[in-house]
Amino acid sequence: MAAVGSDQTRRFADALAEAQSRITHHMDGRLAGHDELHAAMRYAILGGKMLRGFLVLESARLHGVDEAAALEAALAIECIHAYSLVHDDLPCMDDDDLRRGQPTVHRKWDEGMAVLAGDSLQSFAFELLADAKIGPHALPLIRGLAQASGKDGMVSGQMLDIAAESATQPLSLDQITKLQSRKTGCLISWSATAGAVMAGADDGALRRYAEALGLAFQIADDILDVEGDAAKVGKAVRKDADAGKATFVSLLGLETAKERAQMLMEQACDALTPYGPAAETLKEAARFVISRES
Ligand code: IPE
Ligand code: IPE
Ligand code: MG
Ligand code: MG
Ligand code: MG
Repeated sequence: MAAVGSDQTRRFADALAEAQSRITHHMDGRLAGHDELHAAMRYAILGGKMLRGFLVLESARLHGVDEAAALEAALAIECIHAYSLVHDDLPCMDDDDLRRGQPTVHRKWDEGMAVLAGDSLQSFAFELLADAKIGPHALPLIRGLAQASGKDGMVSGQMLDIAAESATQPLSLDQITKLQSRKTGCLISWSATAGAVMAGADDGALRRYAEALGLAFQIADDILDVEGDAAKVGKAVRKDADAGKATFVSLLGLETAKERAQMLMEQACDALTPYGPAAETLKEAARFVISRES
């Protein structure tokens, strides 16, 4: 059994590496400008796991979506994700100097450049989705990304995250779940359902998968903040508690948070049953999300 497990893990690592290389190559073609703004945008995209872009490509593969269309969408979500991190790291938010083992954009350039690179990554994502290659279902895809990233999605989650730092009472489990689903879950859900949306197919199973995966992902991030090795994680660790962040770990403690992440991973895998063996790579992605070291 162990051998089978490690074979699957290796296949997932290869699939993720392949997705990273295809998305990076696509970025090189699409974001080829030579000024500092373009350089900062590329810098912000590169060096991450590209898990969201991978989810787009994998859900597109499951639904037989044309690869050229899938790559536009995969790059679009990596642009939104990169923008969210560049702004998240700013002194007015989490005030971080290191991201993916490199100086954050405002440390490498300055705060003005970080605000502007984030802004232009956001608008560029929608430019990519408006490409004719996306096909007849572009509108729900674009609307979905606007909703997932904006006032009821990621930005709302970030606002709740910042507000919780100065709250007089600790957040309840429901409040933390809402914060995390918005902050992290919405973009992951958009990514994992993108293939079904582009194909005009039912996205219910992928949505259930992604909802569990998104929460598991943020719990793992919060656990890494407590237990991670900064050199491997590539960003500062042991900051959340001092900053007064509301996390599952702060509310439930480390062990219960780990159990919850495991349970969510199993829920995510179960949700993929309708796809049969074709969804094995997505299941492996869920296992990776809770066992990752960065
Ligand atoms: C970090 O996301 C921010 C969270 C939503 C927790 P990732 O862990 O996916 O970051 P990169 O892109 O791989 O660096
Ligand atoms: C950031 O969450 C999530 C978004 C940028 C939307 P965190 O603040 O926990 O992410 P890290 O730990 O800085 O990567
Ligand atoms: Mg933050
Ligand atoms: Mg942060
Ligand atoms: Mg974090």
